[in-house]
Order: sequence, then structure tokens, then C-alpha cells
Amino acid sequence: MTSLNRLVGLALASAGALTLAAAGLAADAPQPTKVSWRSPPGDPKRGAQLAQPCLACHAASAPEMTPHAPKLNRTRQSYLVSALLAFRDGQRQSAIMGPMVAGLKDQDIRDLAAYVSGEMLDKPPKSNEQDPYYGFVRAHCTMCHGESGIGEMEGMPVLTGQDPAYLQNALEEYRKGIRKDPTMAGVAAKLTPEQEKGAAAYFAQYDWLEKLK
Ligand code: HEC
Ligand code: HEC
Repeated sequence: MTSLNRLVGLALASAGALTLAAAGLAADAPQPTKVSWRSPPGDPKRGAQLAQPCLACHAASAPEMTPHAPKLNRTRQSYLVSALLAFRDGQRQSAIMGPMVAGLKDQDIRDLAAYVSGEMLDKPPKSNEQDPYYGFVRAHCTMCHGESGIGEMEGMPVLTGQDPAYLQNALEEYRKGIRKDPTMAGVAAKLTPEQEKGAAAYFAQYDWLEKLK
């Protein structure tokens, strides 16, 4: 076989694999919603009104609960939109968040995300190289999440300064398959509960994310 033929063969084989994968998706999993997070843009003023019920749990004044409500202020808009769509469309199960977003339209979700994300600070915190989990996190997490958890890509959650119990619970849910994300499922499958706790505490130590005001 010439190398060109080999390439064409490979391309056809992977196209076949893709079709099969797509057919599998259509058969049993809900299709991921294809909604742009930025177009049309979110309106933070309207988002502020829609966010009134969210404050009961996500505001600094809200009482502690189990599972812990995450801090949302300074999370990326793109990630907020994908998380809210996942709750609404059933890819991410939460008895608490499901009903909160059930009736929301795509634009409501963009507006909420525009408000909730707030203003990003411009300088990420310097990573704490003295932390006992610094080496572990560098080996397993930093390539996607960055050294202090900011992450550099759209669609990435910010871990920096997040509630440690929330982070630990998220890792446990990925490991157990309760929360489904193909990337994090692979990562979490290799973690022990001890490492989940250590990595969660590592990212939680920084100042960045805040509860809503
Ligand atoms: C009754 C309490 C409660 C209310 C009200 C509530 N939330 Fe939540 N929220 C939670 C809890 C608890 C979680 C964590 C769920 C989990 O880990 O799956 C959560 C998770 C989230 C997440 C996921 C964050 C991440 O990092 O993945 C987002 C986004 C969110 N809430 C936004 C909202 C918005 C927007 C509203 C208002 C429309 C709202 N929440 C109302 C309790 C609440
Ligand atoms: C190959 C890239 C990659 C690596 C490596 C990676 N992550 Fe992630 N992580 C992601 C992506 C993508 C998401 C968003 C998944 C989703 O939407 O549920 C995520 C989500 C998370 C969340 C949920 C955040 C939230 O707000 O709910 C936690 C916690 C987390 N990662 C911790 C870690 C830790 C700890 C490590 C290292 C042990 C790690 N990740 C390694 C890509 C990665």
C-alpha cells in the first residue's frame, strides 16, 4: 500500500468509527445541547434579576448545606453556560440544581452566566510551591487547570479558591460515574479519596472565587 492509500484508509476507518460513535450516542445518551455561550451575548442586568432565587444558596450570607454550594463569582461565563445547560438537559444530575434551571431558556442561561461570572481579576495568584500537594497537582492536573486552578481555556471551570468540600465531592462523583465527563472520569478513576482531599485543599487555598454578593 502506498502511504497515500494508507492515509485514506486510516481516514475512512476513523470516519467509520465516528459514525458508529455518533449512532451509539443517538441510541442511548441524551445529545449534548449545541448552544453558543456568547452569541447572542448575555445581559448581566437581566441576569441579576434572574439570579435572585440563586442567592438563597450561592450568596455569602447563605447557610452551609450538603452538598456544598460552589462559589460562582469569577467563574468563566463559557463554563457557567455549559454547567447550567448540563443541569437543565439532564447530562448532570442534581436534585437541587435540576429544578432550579428546568424552566430556563438558552438566553436566560446566558444572562445568568454574564451576571454570575462577575469581573475577572487580571492576575492569577502565584502558585504555592511549598504545598505538600504541589508536586502531585503539577503531575496530574496543571496541564488543564493551570498551577493555581484558573485554567486557560474557554469551557474550563475555575478551581482557584473554590469551596474544598465542593471540589472533593465533584472528584468523588466523577470517580463513581455520578457526574459524567469523559476527561475527568479518566483522571478521577486513578485518584484515591486521600488524593481527592489533598488536591481539593490545594486548589481551595487561593484567593479568587467568591460567593455571590
Ligand atoms: C437550594 C440551593 C441552590 C439554589 C437555589 C441554586 N443552587 Fe446552584 N448549586 C447548588 C448546589 C448544592 C450545587 C452543587 C451541585 C453538585 O455538586 O452537583 C450547585 C451547583 C451550581 C453550579 C455548578 C458550578 C460548577 O462549578 O460546576 C452552577 C453554575 C449553579 N449552581 C448556578 C446556580 C444558579 C444560576 C442558580 C439560580 C438560577 C442556582 N445555582 C440556584 C445549590 C443551589
Ligand atoms: C485533560 C484535562 C484535565 C486534567 C488533566 C484534569 N482536569 Fe479537571 N476538569 C477538566 C475539564 C474539561 C473539566 C470540566 C468537566 C465538566 O464540565 O464536568 C474539569 C472539571 C474538574 C472539576 C469540577 C469543577 C467544578 O467547578 O465543578 C474538578 C474538581 C477538577 N476538574 C479537578 C481536577 C483535579 C484535582 C485534577 C488532577 C488530579 C484534574 N482535574 C485534572 C479537565 C481536566
